[in-house]
Amino acid sequence: MVVGPVVHVVGARPNFVKAAPVFSALSALGVVQRLVHTGQHYDPAMSDVFFADLDLPEPDANLGVGSGSHATQTAALLVGLEHAFEELVPSLVVVYGDVNSTLAAALVAAKLHVPVAHVEAGLRSFDASMPEEINRRLTDQLAQLLFATSPEALVHLGNEGIPADRVHFVGNPMIDTLLRHRHRLDPARERARLALPDRYGVVTMHRPANVDRPEDAVRLVDALVAASEDVALVWPLHPRSREGLRRAGLQEREGLRLSDPLGYLDFLSLVSGAAVVITDSGGIQEETTVLGVPCLTVRESTERPITITAGTNRLVRPDEVVESVRRILFDEGPRPAGDGPPLWDGRAGERIADVLVSWSSPA
Ligand code: UD1
Repeated sequence: MVVGPVVHVVGARPNFVKAAPVFSALSALGVVQRLVHTGQHYDPAMSDVFFADLDLPEPDANLGVGSGSHATQTAALLVGLEHAFEELVPSLVVVYGDVNSTLAAALVAAKLHVPVAHVEAGLRSFDASMPEEINRRLTDQLAQLLFATSPEALVHLGNEGIPADRVHFVGNPMIDTLLRHRHRLDPARERARLALPDRYGVVTMHRPANVDRPEDAVRLVDALVAASEDVALVWPLHPRSREGLRRAGLQEREGLRLSDPLGYLDFLSLVSGAAVVITDSGGIQEETTVLGVPCLTVRESTERPITITAGTNRLVRPDEVVESVRRILFDEGPRPAGDGPPLWDGRAGERIADVLVSWSSPA
């Protein structure tokens, strides 16, 4: 029987989007909950705006860990979270996705003998150069309850020796949030605000492999500028990318329309009206799949292959961007609407809440 609160740990933009439906489904079941924000993302445009857009409650604690190298940030997370858990005495800690806050929270909870639930378990890119891949693998090893968003995750977890009775295939809470707010998306408003033509594309790039080293940033921006001759491209900039472009002397390149980071509703309004999205994000591969918008992911691998097999995504190298955009704009008709990935139906949060409640008070 659960005594202490269920504590959700969030830290970075995608966490907020995934936690919202789980928090609200547990609230509906009367579960006592607390929300801890690690402060990994702290700019108002990277954090506050999401809480407002998603109706997430104010966090009960904000640890203010901020940025730094992986070691600096993770160390601050470990210290801050240990302190927070000692105060809150959680019966269960729920962590989301694959950011540094996710792994740190799982590690601290496990050492304090607090059970961990991992939402979005079992995704694998098999690219160990991505910090997220390390975070995912280790978090899954530490969790007692693993919630998978797509069937291949069950196979990966089985291969890594995770007992099947810990794993629950529940669908995708990020898609719950999208479906819940879809009626609020207004592409015409965003297009007007950003002075875009009817046909435009959206760029989001922030992975270290694409923006940190000047030579990678130059290669990428050259490809985007060439593609912008066929379609207007707007790029809401993550602070990491702004810094990468500045270092490479690219912030004034003609052809690209750069904007500040956008809030959840503004960004997805923009995406929902786009002819193409060019990204290296994880979550946006999923959101474009559900919105039926063609997505080019500039990476060598994806931990979300279901967005290729049952969605609108494809992987491209920077030197393939121009040709791929052209094909989407000029050669391909509208994509036939398939059923999409299984269980991406807006009810993942409820399924997760049901499992958590029956797990914590077994019959
Ligand atoms: C993190 C996640 C990544 C996720 C992304 C979503 C890790 C390892 N990576 O990457 O998986 O896709 O969040 O956005 O956890 N910064 C600001 N203001 C902020 C936050 C960050 O200016 O509010 C700048 C800082 O210069 C910081 C840099 O962005 O050094 C990177 O932030 P960090 O949290 O380390 O990783 P992200 O690139 O955001």
